[in-house]
Amino acid sequence: MNYTEASMLLKEHGQEHLLQYYDELTAQQQAALLKQIEGINFSDYKVFGAAGARKIGELSPVPALSCADVERGREEYEAEGIKALRAGKVAAVLLAGGQGTRLGSDNPKGMFNMGTSRELSIFACQFANIKQVTDKAGVYFHIFVMTSDVNNEKTVAFFKEKNYFGYPEDKIHFFVQEMAPTCDVRGKLLMESRWKISASPNGNGGWYSSLIKSGLGEVLAREGIEWLNVYSVDNVLQRICDPVFIGATLKSGCNCSAKVVKKVSPEEKVGVLCMEDGSPAIVEYYEMPPEIAALRRPDGELKFAYGVTLNYLFKVELLNKTLQKKLPVHHSLKKIPHIENGVPVNPEQPNGYKFELLVLDMIKLMESCLAVEVEREKEFAPVKNRTGVDSVETARALLIKNGVKL
Ligand code: UTP
Repeated sequence: MNYTEASMLLKEHGQEHLLQYYDELTAQQQAALLKQIEGINFSDYKVFGAAGARKIGELSPVPALSCADVERGREEYEAEGIKALRAGKVAAVLLAGGQGTRLGSDNPKGMFNMGTSRELSIFACQFANIKQVTDKAGVYFHIFVMTSDVNNEKTVAFFKEKNYFGYPEDKIHFFVQEMAPTCDVRGKLLMESRWKISASPNGNGGWYSSLIKSGLGEVLAREGIEWLNVYSVDNVLQRICDPVFIGATLKSGCNCSAKVVKKVSPEEKVGVLCMEDGSPAIVEYYEMPPEIAALRRPDGELKFAYGVTLNYLFKVELLNKTLQKKLPVHHSLKKIPHIENGVPVNPEQPNGYKFELLVLDMIKLMESCLAVEVEREKEFAPVKNRTGVDSVETARALLIKNGVKL
């Protein structure tokens, strides 16, 4: 793309300011800027209405196994899950490309030290849980680790430094997710420098398409991997490739499943797994009408009781079909450092939007989904903030409760 083409394209989308420093740049910088402009699909990055707002459809409860149901079937589910792991049919995908802005650390979130008397990174907590599964199954499963431009180098170096947490290196595969531009509140794309458009990781919903683009689909095909257990980096009690979860999903015949926790109250700020207009869906807490959130079953339990923990099992066959579908692009208001009139600005208040694809939108494309309830205190300790709700403090307390030495 040359200058004239770029300038016409930008005019069409009201983004001409991206070339305002063009004449001051070196030839190399000019070329780099034109390449970035060429790579942007401008129609994806428009800000319409309030962030995240959407009209929800007809809701009904999703097929679910409560903790009591899981206990009743535990032995059978576990045997089925172990069988699938031994046959190499299941692999894990760690979503670790986020910026962790709320935690506010310069390092990747997984490197955050949960220890108080020893070093215990979030990655190490998760690998300790993985070891329990691999010891029991007697096999190692493949683990795909998604990073992003903002943390890839440090993540890969950390894994190496820690000797892959005792896991076989040839079973760990890194891939880098894509980036998306950011914009100000009027929808004008922001510049990080005179020749660089500001960008942030494009959300956790692009993981399968990024995995395939990186060439790792070859590993899935070669190894005969049929199921992917996708999980977030920021739950220190995360149970990965849990045989009971795998077995329960396989026996259900569903195309995907989610580990869920029972909501503590109708108002709890957690995405709820349910059926929406006949398809599985996750309704975000801010989308859920309060009168529906408060509905109860005859036994007194909430009708829409299950909050998601960002631990899903997806059937690869169905994921391949989703590659042809376009996921919606969400935008969320954030603090975004940028340059204005050539001067760096480090905002103290949210000043613009980041654009993200969300893994929850993939659930809708899966046709069927099983909710598998887990005990919150044993499996759900998210680390989103330094203090307060879902924080380092609350997660440390839960680690101690589960017998982990900090
Ligand atoms: P969050 O939505 O909590 O985002 O990620 P975050 O970037 O970690 O934290 P904040 O919002 O900036 O404070 C949930 C999971 O999705 C992954 C994160 O690494 C985490 O495991 N994620 C998020 C990605 O892999 N890529 C993204 O672009 C965003």
